[in-house]
Amino acid sequence: MTAASYALIPEPVRIQPRTDSFTLTPDTTVAVDPGAGRAGAAWQRLVGHAPNTATTAGADVRITIDPAGLPAHGYRLTVDCDHIQVVGADSAGAFYGVQTLAQLMPTSLLADERRSWPVHVPGVRIVDHPRVSWRGVMLDVARHFMPKEFVLRLLDLLALHKLNVLHLHLTDDQGWRIEIPGYPRLTEIGAWRPETVIGHDTALEEWDLRYDGQPHGGFYTAAELREIVAYAADRFITVVPEVDMPGHMQAAIAAYPELGNGLAKPEVRRRWNVSTQVLNLTEPTVRFCLDVLDEVLRIFPSEFIHCGGDEVPRDEWRASFAVQERMRTLGLSDEDALQTWFTGRIADFLAESGRRLVGWDEILAAGPVPKGTVVMPWRGGQAVDAALRSGSDVVLTPAEHLYLNYNQSMDVHAEPLAIGGYVPLETVHAFDLPASGHVLGAQAQLWTEYINSPGLAEYMLFPRLCAFADTVWRPGGAYPDFLRSLRVHVTRLDALGVGYRPLDT
Ligand code: ACM
Repeated sequence: MTAASYALIPEPVRIQPRTDSFTLTPDTTVAVDPGAGRAGAAWQRLVGHAPNTATTAGADVRITIDPAGLPAHGYRLTVDCDHIQVVGADSAGAFYGVQTLAQLMPTSLLADERRSWPVHVPGVRIVDHPRVSWRGVMLDVARHFMPKEFVLRLLDLLALHKLNVLHLHLTDDQGWRIEIPGYPRLTEIGAWRPETVIGHDTALEEWDLRYDGQPHGGFYTAAELREIVAYAADRFITVVPEVDMPGHMQAAIAAYPELGNGLAKPEVRRRWNVSTQVLNLTEPTVRFCLDVLDEVLRIFPSEFIHCGGDEVPRDEWRASFAVQERMRTLGLSDEDALQTWFTGRIADFLAESGRRLVGWDEILAAGPVPKGTVVMPWRGGQAVDAALRSGSDVVLTPAEHLYLNYNQSMDVHAEPLAIGGYVPLETVHAFDLPASGHVLGAQAQLWTEYINSPGLAEYMLFPRLCAFADTVWRPGGAYPDFLRSLRVHVTRLDALGVGYRPLDT
């Protein structure tokens, strides 16, 4: 065996090939430290039986915890002819060690087929750890609702690639996807649109647009969201919820027109691009936002709560006498200052609950943001520079590298209709993390304007998410090495039934 022949994604920090192998049978004894329960559960899902002995000393397979000599979330994995040993620096590290094992095992185990014994696990020594703590994926479930079952399946796929944040974009102009007590119309009305624009929605006049006449919608109950959160936590994934405000709020305004400025027809948006309908930011409207966040905080234990802040057109605020009057009362010089004031209110509210606001880079447009806020720069190098200069913590989300809703081929006519852009596999892999103590990590985005099914979502996510996982776990890997591993790794995706875009030959 050579190091490359293991074809692990993400590639581990250190890998030492061995020539022997471990023979796994139903009689193999398996012991798991009490602190590594979730790693033990992952082992059980993989091989089909529970750990069967209490004492690690004599067991054939040992999953233990020992922080000595390992960075946070790191692990050591040794497979030889006598043992499989996973030693995690902590419980997450032990879990990642088992995920590496999942890739070393025959793909039939991933496929959940009837297992045939014995199973040969190739010998190896690996020492591994992640470089950054935020290795995320954003899924937009607002533009097209994605069933809970798909979200759970995606969590399994994230875990296999050692990704650890699922950012759920829960609300937007075209749909509201979370039940909020006291505001039933958010889901009765806001979760549904009567129809959707057909084809590419460029900035055409309204009379040029055609619609499909098909109602679209859906939402998650609190119980369903709690199930997603728990399923994720079992896999060391944090679910970061996003309620986008004060723009991207047309669905909420359709449900409760008093939140808006009364300048446009209240309806859940049927087309894409950016709506000019925004919150009016009266005191009752701010109260509404805090009520929504109260419920969000009850459901999601995440330290990080995303409140959007992107793409807030100033048109309505400029045109509204009431908003201008409020700005004067608050002593705010312009509309930018109004957004900053609002961002501060939301950040303070979250801080009182020990949580931290996350926002897209537009929240920096009008001055400093409260301490503890996390910025996601998505609009190119200048936004990254501004975010890094702001002194806030940063999660990099650059469109030009990490928007997986962009085209993955130049031959757009051979691809499903996409929003535009060009982010092929190699461009995702070429993403590099700047060295800064303020960079928590990075995140790939899947906006779903043009992605109307789980199958299409998988096609856009994979294999680009494999490239992202490789580069965010251990930056600086060579693309040809990744590609060589990927040619083997797709057999794992095949076993899991992932509808990935076939590799270019
Ligand atoms: C964004 O793409 N509007 C964050």
